[in-house]
Amino acid sequence: MTVALIVAAGSGERLGAGGPKALVGVAGRSMLQWSLDALAAVAEIERIVVALPAGVAAPPGVIDVEGGAVRSDSVRRALAQAGAGDPVLVHDAARPMLTPELAEAVIAALRGDRGADAAIAAIPVTDTVKRVDADGTVRETLERSELWAVQTPQVFRRDALGRALAAPAHELARATDDALLIEREGGRVIVVPASDENLKVTTPLDLKLAELLLSARAGGSSAPAPVKPA
Ligand code: C5P
Repeated sequence: MTVALIVAAGSGERLGAGGPKALVGVAGRSMLQWSLDALAAVAEIERIVVALPAGVAAPPGVIDVEGGAVRSDSVRRALAQAGAGDPVLVHDAARPMLTPELAEAVIAALRGDRGADAAIAAIPVTDTVKRVDADGTVRETLERSELWAVQTPQVFRRDALGRALAAPAHELARATDDALLIEREGGRVIVVPASDENLKVTTPLDLKLAELLLSARAGGSSAPAPVKPA
């Protein structure tokens, strides 16, 4: 059975919401609650642990832990409270558009590939991506056909994730996702095609987009009313 970890302990400074990002309301629920509801609908997930800012409690039915100073530290703390279960699914609360189908697809991809240590949701990159120096000079244009933008959920064999999270603190601090830590030690990570709707809410514009998409999904009324002809 799978255990799921949701990291929700970020401050959300770039969103400017004046409080923990995971608790910001989107289409009638907190961002965290949208992810919890999606994962609760996945039959093979037996337990959910949420890493939250100090002093914030998780909703009933899930285990809460205090998050760490950096994202990987929050993952490590959540894993320590996860009890038995393998594989381990890790999801960012900043992605409230998660669907049960995507979580199931990522879990199934790892199950179907015995040689993989992790399976991660991702989409092919549509922009041209360049490496740029600090002074603004373009140094390199990357080959777009090989580039994928990586999302969560990411699903790991438990022993591989445990080993990866034992990396030194300075490496954990630089890890923007957990799969990176597996790659670094030579592990095999596979991508699972996801949807560009599974966006990460970072800026106020992302929040508006998530509000529109989730309102439409919930059949709610907070989407803008259609413009009536004069
Ligand atoms: O910092 P970033 O926006 O990449 O955060 C991705 C996810 O990691 C968010 O859901 C955030 O709440 C979580 N996070 C955390 N603990 C931290 C930093 C980020 O749980 N110290």
